[in-house]
Amino acid sequence: MARYAHIVGWGMAVPQRVVTNPELAQFVDTSDEWIVTRTGIRERRVAGPQESTATLSIAAAEEALAVAGIAPREVDLILVATVTPEHLFPSTACLVQDTLGASKAGAFDLLAGCSGFIYGLHLAAAAIRSGDHQVALVIGAETLSRIVNWRDRNTCVLFGDGAGAVVLKGSETPGGVLASMIRADGSGGELLILPAGGSRIPFSEAALRDGCHFVRMNGREVFRFATRVMEKATREVVEQAGLRLSDVDLIIPHQANIRIIEAAARGLGLPMERFFVNIDRYGNTSSASIPIALCEAVQQGRLKPGDTVAMVAFGAGLTWAAAVVRWGAPAPRPRPAWLERLARLVRYLPAQGHSRWMRLWRHLDAWASRLLGRDED
Ligand code: ACO
Repeated sequence: MARYAHIVGWGMAVPQRVVTNPELAQFVDTSDEWIVTRTGIRERRVAGPQESTATLSIAAAEEALAVAGIAPREVDLILVATVTPEHLFPSTACLVQDTLGASKAGAFDLLAGCSGFIYGLHLAAAAIRSGDHQVALVIGAETLSRIVNWRDRNTCVLFGDGAGAVVLKGSETPGGVLASMIRADGSGGELLILPAGGSRIPFSEAALRDGCHFVRMNGREVFRFATRVMEKATREVVEQAGLRLSDVDLIIPHQANIRIIEAAARGLGLPMERFFVNIDRYGNTSSASIPIALCEAVQQGRLKPGDTVAMVAFGAGLTWAAAVVRWGAPAPRPRPAWLERLARLVRYLPAQGHSRWMRLWRHLDAWASRLLGRDED
């Protein structure tokens, strides 16, 4: 019997703090007019001191599981796509697994630039179709504000923070992820790079002095690459799904620059109304941009059961990726915020208790081993 991977839950989380273009223009040599006309961005969200890639991932994942009506212990795979993980290791995915109490899940991070979410969707859908996994959580989450140089106008105006998540579930009903593709061209790696912090340039005073801990980007070259692959990848994945462009109800492109989306629309011969755009409010949130846009498309009634949606992204690596999904799940009836908070508290409190108990147990076990001389074996 054929198996299909359906999106049955979705959720997003963005920091409260909004930074507008005029605010940016107070401390970097730019203007609202330049940013809006050259990129389409009006404002972006920036994480506060208590927020991080893991906290945003967890909030988005909790919402996605609530929409799906799925308990964390049913999840057997967690993928977090990010270029700004909580730490180099352990993975952000493991922190998400622990907080959710997803006790039966394997968890790992995935780094594919802004294409990361579609890379994750591609892998999770394949894992579900193979029969090895039944329920997967795919998250795209970033705190890019932590790796941009706020004095570099070439980059700081572009990026924002946020997270989006989907729950994928196996089913014998046709639909869900109809087709997906992932590609890479590492020869363009230096066009968009965070030089320090890895094995090539470990953190050091010199790396810090040279600003190697900030994003470096050749904007013009990335722009040229993006306009080329957005159209190509969309055509390829739609054909792979056995569909025509006219069968696609909505295209959700990576939100990097409105001019890149307009160029893709021109190349595909489609009107801008077929594209979902929210770059004006969030800027480029890298791996989070497509799942955040997906959530807002559902909220706004732009994506309904039976619709076909194409998602397409490009990013650091260089990478690009695309997917076609037959949307199956209806939007849930909204519950009052207080009830939602209460339900989450009840659901996740045992996971917190379990995590604390496991830490305590490790201490006790180590202490008992020392006492009994077991460590000397
Ligand atoms: N405010 C005012 N002026 C600016 C700013 C700014 N924020 N940034 C650049 N300029 C100036 C430049 O210095 C330049 O001035 P000059 O002509 O005197 O040298 C002028 O504006 C034009 O600069 P360009 O780089 O040619 O501007 P362009 O129209 O190409 O826009 C941009 C730059 C927005 C970066 C564009 O190239 C772009 O969007 N590229 C793609 C970037 C992208 O998508 N990156 C994310 C990839 S995904 C990932 O994995 C994270």
